[in-house]
Amino acid sequence: MIVTIDGPAGAGKSTVARMLAEKLNFDFLDTGAMYRCVVYQGNRQKIDWSDENALGKIARQLDLEFDGAAVLVAGEDVSSAIRSAEITALIHYAADNLQVREAMVRLQRKLASEDDVVTEGRDQGTLAFPDAQCKIFLSASAEERARRRTEQMRQAGKEVTVEEILEQQNLRDQQDEAREVGGLKAADDALHVVTDGMRLFEVVEHLERLVRIRM
Ligand code: C5P
Repeated sequence: MIVTIDGPAGAGKSTVARMLAEKLNFDFLDTGAMYRCVVYQGNRQKIDWSDENALGKIARQLDLEFDGAAVLVAGEDVSSAIRSAEITALIHYAADNLQVREAMVRLQRKLASEDDVVTEGRDQGTLAFPDAQCKIFLSASAEERARRRTEQMRQAGKEVTVEEILEQQNLRDQQDEAREVGGLKAADDALHVVTDGMRLFEVVEHLERLVRIRM
């Protein structure tokens, strides 16, 4: 069975999807991490960002592995490096690149072909898995998402304000929604879940109920 969870930045998709996968005993696929790894490799190889073919080649040759909660590129744990502000600011080069998107969707389908999976991203219910048995579109108001992300970052020791997080988030939402291929969009048959005011465990329990109904 394939469960897709799509939605905007900061909706808590990764945490929720990971916990849901654990409850269901499904594999978990963090597709945002995949795009981040492509950019990470491009950055390390100091590629010319205007060269679409160079980034496309990196995506096709990406040696990526998920090991529990860790993401490995060529055997190196890059889990925290790929989530830096520097990589986030460059992410649109990968997300806007059609060669990269094609390689990522191919890899996502391969990774999901063997086991039951909860997959999380922007285009999972629309493009990667249009026939998925359960599609969820997870969102929250922009303010709530920014507030949660700010708290998360402060807990990680970073000094940030809600205003600056909201500004970066709005920019990324606009870029993700405007993307013609693989843009942020709910599938026609997606179940919409708005998480304002809900605690994390409540969201996970709610999604679990939705999935079990369709099992
Ligand atoms: O989910 P996360 O914030 O890690 O995703 C990083 C970026 O990767 C998103 O802002 C989006 O531009 C891109 N992405 C995408 N398609 C996906 C997952 C992520 O374009 N399926």
